[in-house]
Amino acid sequence: MAIPLRIDNIQLTGYKNYSEAAFQFNERLIGICGNNGKGKTNLLDAIYYLCFTKSYFTRLENLNIQFQKEGFRLEGVFYSNDTTSNKVVCIYRPGKGKEIYHNELAYEKFSKHIGKFPAVLIAPNDSALITGGSEERRKYLDTLLSQIDNDYLNQLIVYTKLLTERNALLKSEEAKFETENLVLQSIDERLIPVAETLHRYRTAFCKKLFPRISAFYNQISGSDETIQIRYESQLSENLIRNLLKKNLHRDRLLQRTTAGIHKDDILFEFNSNPFKNIASQGQRKSLLFACRLAELEILKNEIGINPLLLLDDVFEKLDKKRIRNLLEYICNQNKSQVFITDTDSSRLKEAISELGKIIQIIQLD
Ligand SMILES: Nc1ncnc2c1ncn2[C@@H]1O[C@H](COP(=O)(O)OP(=O)(O)OP(=O)(O)O)[C@@H](O)[C@H]1O
Ligand SMILES: [Mg+2]
Repeated sequence: MAIPLRIDNIQLTGYKNYSEAAFQFNERLIGICGNNGKGKTNLLDAIYYLCFTKSYFTRLENLNIQFQKEGFRLEGVFYSNDTTSNKVVCIYRPGKGKEIYHNELAYEKFSKHIGKFPAVLIAPNDSALITGGSEERRKYLDTLLSQIDNDYLNQLIVYTKLLTERNALLKSEEAKFETENLVLQSIDERLIPVAETLHRYRTAFCKKLFPRISAFYNQISGSDETIQIRYESQLSENLIRNLLKKNLHRDRLLQRTTAGIHKDDILFEFNSNPFKNIASQGQRKSLLFACRLAELEILKNEIGINPLLLLDDVFEKLDKKRIRNLLEYICNQNKSQVFITDTDSSRLKEAISELGKIIQIIQLD
């Protein structure tokens, strides 16, 4: 049984539209309500920040600081069992950088914080995972795998470093004239085993992940609309050694490495057509939800902590049946603490009480 993670309270100082605010969370289900622009998404993002040491929406820290302020501070108290409290503090000041504390102790490496307080945020307007380029889906795989397996993260760091070295060499004059470049050969010899390992990790992981995504898609859409999901990698059909050799001439001309696991993708298909080309907006959002809920289930099983679920604007674009199916999962099949934003508190309360559950409403004015 996974331990459910709870956030008990949060304090925001100079964070986006919040100059000074504190919120206490008393229930498992929490609605964050208010009109457009009141700070619903910003509050979800502040919770996300405490879990991941960064905003979901931007990497530019200055955008998180309230206009005209010198910096921001976020403080939250988490419980992963009922007795031990975990105080997490994030402070950012331009020029001084970022500080993160867990129970008053400063982290030297923020990566050590990742995975302690897991969370999954679903922002349906951000459907780049479904409709964007392949790097979005690699990021999805990499983020998930890195949280559950430290060796994966380490190997990925090595691969990225070697790839950067290889590309720099391909850009240099030296690589253009020599057919037998010893430096290139040496990079390749180190790159090959790492690429093979990462490919093995991804192949095995996708076998676990894809059936969960399909099952969630069916559950949310409430029909037998079936989607096919495939892991696409040049390494599934070819040896990386042969790929590098075959593409060497092209790599030299284009001055970058054109084959490898950095080209992998996840292919979603709907009636044998690429999903992103033919699916409706609601269907795309359903698939995004399915990917994120699969992420939550996998994290729960693999790291033994039930992540926080942060749902932004789920009531937009999903039809009543899909919303009901989603809420049914959230209320009855999942034990996560859930935060749901909505402009209309009565709609949210009604939908939750129909399922016989209690929700705490935080009204932002
Ligand atoms: N750095 C900042 N400093 C001050 N205010 C900011 C900053 N960044 C964003 N805001 C303000 O925050 C508000 C947006 O908040 P948020 O996106 O959380 O709204 P919301 O309640 O989710 O709205 P919606 O219902 O439209 O999604 C805007 O009024 C915006 O001007
Ligand atoms: Mg919003």
